[in-house]
Amino acid sequence: MRPALLSSRRSLHFWPRVSVMNTKVLPVDITHFRFQAQPDDEFGVQNAKPVITKETDQTAILEAVRELKAGQAVGIPTETVYGLAANALQEDAVAKIFAAKNRPADNPLIVHVSSLDMLKTFMPDNTIPPVYLPIIKKLWPGPLTIILPSSPMIPSTVTCSQPTVAVRFPSHPVARALIDACGFPLAAPSANSSGKPSPTLASHVFHDLQGKIPLILDGGPCDVGVESTVLDALRTPPAILRPGGITYESLLSLPHMNKLQVYRKHFVDEALEQAPTTPGMKYRHYSPDAKVVLFEHSDKVSETTVHEVFETKWKSELAGFQKAGVTVRKVGVLQTTPEGEACHWEQVQSKDGVEYIEIQMGRRGHPEEVARGMFKGLRELDSRGVDLIFVQGIPELHEGMAVMNRLRKAASKIIDLGEL
Ligand code: TXA
Ligand code: MG
Repeated sequence: MRPALLSSRRSLHFWPRVSVMNTKVLPVDITHFRFQAQPDDEFGVQNAKPVITKETDQTAILEAVRELKAGQAVGIPTETVYGLAANALQEDAVAKIFAAKNRPADNPLIVHVSSLDMLKTFMPDNTIPPVYLPIIKKLWPGPLTIILPSSPMIPSTVTCSQPTVAVRFPSHPVARALIDACGFPLAAPSANSSGKPSPTLASHVFHDLQGKIPLILDGGPCDVGVESTVLDALRTPPAILRPGGITYESLLSLPHMNKLQVYRKHFVDEALEQAPTTPGMKYRHYSPDAKVVLFEHSDKVSETTVHEVFETKWKSELAGFQKAGVTVRKVGVLQTTPEGEACHWEQVQSKDGVEYIEIQMGRRGHPEEVARGMFKGLRELDSRGVDLIFVQGIPELHEGMAVMNRLRKAASKIIDLGEL
């Protein structure tokens, strides 16, 4: 049993329990997928057709298509995180996603497409709002979700009766080829149990959802490691509702985006604050079982001393817990690799009856590496049964904005590294 202080998770049972089933994991090899653009098509890349060159991969895709056509939910790789996919146009299929994840019924899902032609089939008047066209041309397929007007074809279980629908065109070859082979869009949230860190490996999905879904396609580690950026350009000025794999900096230079704002960083809105549609606002997110203490990056601390200061601070925080009578047997430290040092994944040490497991997410000056290693690190430390996780924050630049957004939501205590 963990001490009471360390296990304060609410259990959310909004959907009936699903019956236990055998969960099959099928490997797929991304090197066997190619995409052929259509000549004479302005959106050639976005309407390209998949070619799968190996039979075992074709068979795996067909098996997933069979399950999805039968209304089942399937774990699939995407370039951001693994998704739990079901037919977005079928209400019963979408309900299976909510049941398997134990997801609150008022948290809407992202609809995934494999071409602009597919997107147009469910847009009102088959039209994509013009403000999005240059963005789509530049950034799709990729880790960007856009908010669009919804349509009667999308069940209210997907949008949670909002007038808008979130849509994404993933670049992961397996996700793309699978959606194309289905011929219908797939609704897919991240494939974790609700409230847990997002999965970046098929084994993470298996850990959370085994027995609840029939199939997981294992396409290896996710390249981006954090979820897509959610962009609402129907608003004036346009807004990032959730920072993610496409950075604020890269969006800012695109047409109509020069006044782009980031929710909670540049503005807050009372209505959005209350709505579950504002990603990750209403419900607890990304939390391991262990208590997470985040040490926020501060400009008051120089980059040359940042690792020393972090170590001093987490050790004093640990001493505080011990002094307060909390039994701590295992401590997880999730940090960045100092510039110029070789990155190691894990180091274990024992001292005075306490085991310390240190995991490095990636090099400090490379937020894209940190993003790739963050959820994986949180999950690894949790699986090792640590009582506490001390996390070193990074500057909120580029992918660092998404990393810090997720870490703040995972943390139950946040300490400014610059505080004396
Ligand atoms: O990278 C990703 O986006 C992954 C992969 C699987 O594609 N998916 C993902 O889904 O992160 P999920 O459900 O974990 O997060 C989707 C977020 C939710 O927090 C939800 O609030 C928001 O998108 N969302 C969905 N529909 C929306 C809408 N109509 N307006 C605003 N936000 C919306
Ligand atoms: Mg999620």
